[in-house]
Amino acid sequence: MKIIILKDSNELSKRAAQILANQIMVKPNSSIGLATGDTPLGMYKELIKLYLNNCIDFSRTTTFNLDEYYGLKPDDPKSYYYYMYNNLFKYVNIDYENVNIPNGICESIEDECNRYEKEIEKAGGIDLQILGIGRNGHVGFNEPDANFEAKTHIIHLKEDTILANSRFFTSPNEVPKKAISMGIKSIMRSRKILLLAKGIEKATAIFQTVNGKITPQVPASILQLHPNVTLILDLEAASLLK
Ligand code: F6R
Repeated sequence: MKIIILKDSNELSKRAAQILANQIMVKPNSSIGLATGDTPLGMYKELIKLYLNNCIDFSRTTTFNLDEYYGLKPDDPKSYYYYMYNNLFKYVNIDYENVNIPNGICESIEDECNRYEKEIEKAGGIDLQILGIGRNGHVGFNEPDANFEAKTHIIHLKEDTILANSRFFTSPNEVPKKAISMGIKSIMRSRKILLLAKGIEKATAIFQTVNGKITPQVPASILQLHPNVTLILDLEAASLLK
C-alpha cells in the first residue's frame, strides 16, 4: 500500500483529482469507479476546475458508481445519481451513455446486480477505482460481515452507517435501509485503487485497514491484498498510523 499523508482536505482533493485526471489523460477511454459521500466532494470540484481549464476530457470516459440506495429514484435529491449529476456530471463533457450507477428502483434486484456486473465486464473492468471508507471500515456499501461478498449485491445497511449517513437526510428514519453495492471482488479487480479518508472519525478504520488483520469485519482490510492501492489521507485520518 502506498500512503500519502497531506495536511488537509483541500490538499487531499487536489492530489486525488490530479491522479484521476492523469489516468484519463493517459487513457481517455478509461473506466473509472466513483464514490459518493462527503469525502470525494472536493475532488469533484477540483476535477471540474481542471475540465474548465481544458486539462481533462471526459468524452470517452466510462464511469461506474459503487452504490445506490435501494428505493430512491434517480431524481430524488438523496439518490447517488442526483449527487453525481449535481456534483460532477452536469459540469463536464461526460457522455451519459457511459455513466453507470446501480438502478435503485429496479424491478428485480437480482437482474439489476447481474446487469451491473456484465456492464463492468463489457467495459473491460475498472482502471481506477475511487473509494471512501466508512467509520466501520466499509467500502462501497460492503458492511462488516461474516464473509466478503464478491459481486454486486443488495446490502442491509448497519445501524451505525444509517446514523452516519443521516447527516444527508432530515432524520435517520429517512435513510433507506438497503442499498445496491458493487462487491469486494469487483473492487479488487480494479487495476488501481485510490482510497480517500479525512477526519479523525476515520482514524481507527484507516489504522485497521493498514495494520489490522484481513477480515470481513473490516471490509477495507482486504485492500492489503491488492497490488496497486494508494491511500490519500489528511493528518487526522492518518493520526493512528506510526
Ligand atoms: C459511497 C460509498 C461509501 C462512502 C463512505 C464514506 O459511494 O461508497 O463507502 O465512501 O460511507 O462516506 P463519507 O465520505 O461521507 O464519510
